[in-house]
Amino acid sequence: MAKIMVFDHPLIQHKVSLMRDKNTTSKEFRHLAREVAMLMAFEVTRDLPTMDVEIETPICKTTVKKLAGMDVAVVPILRAGLGFVDGMLEIIPNAKVGHVGLYRDPETKEPVEYYCKLPEDIDKRRVIIVDPMLATGGSAIAAVDFVKKRGGKDISFMCLIAAPEGIDALEKAHPDVDIFIAAKDEKLNENAYIVPGLGDAGDRIFGTK
Ligand code: PRP
Ligand code: URA
Repeated sequence: MAKIMVFDHPLIQHKVSLMRDKNTTSKEFRHLAREVAMLMAFEVTRDLPTMDVEIETPICKTTVKKLAGMDVAVVPILRAGLGFVDGMLEIIPNAKVGHVGLYRDPETKEPVEYYCKLPEDIDKRRVIIVDPMLATGGSAIAAVDFVKKRGGKDISFMCLIAAPEGIDALEKAHPDVDIFIAAKDEKLNENAYIVPGLGDAGDRIFGTK
């Protein structure tokens, strides 16, 4: 059964609150997205396997823990997911990065696919799909479908803000995928935007509106 984790850390709450504010500039928004990604990466990678390794400190020989070679792939959903990549790579510098291109049709609200390029060894990696918004869940579900079709097995989804509708839809479609959420909001509005949300994440990151 998938794990659903909503972060309640004060630092994350504070930064997400700043991101919600309509007066926050794109420059500030990008910086905050990077910081929140770093903080969330900590928890999202909590169960990466470790192994015992013998080393020598300046004082004595000792056995320490190191990562046991379970490699990570960070997969942003274009375009807003790109806002999380730098922060993730800061914490997991050896991760490979795949890209899934999807946008929501403004009329149907259904995801439209336009790009997919994933690491060749995706089947051997811990895959972390990142996107700031989980609204209807259509984009997240399609992204997980893409990754699974190409062999991905160990998949988590990480987002900034989620609507209950999106969480339910993703959990139902992919019960094996763990979901990490910085903040869970109230609902979707009639345009399938998250309320209170932060508006259009792609536009806020890239300043396109
Ligand atoms: C946004 C967001 C998600 C999607 C969420 O992307 O970044 O990918 O909407 O909505 P859903 O859960 O209802 O599918 P958008 O389609 O606006 O594309 P963009 O990132 O290129 O702006
Ligand atoms: N996509 C966004 O960028 N924001 C929302 O609130 C919903 C979908």
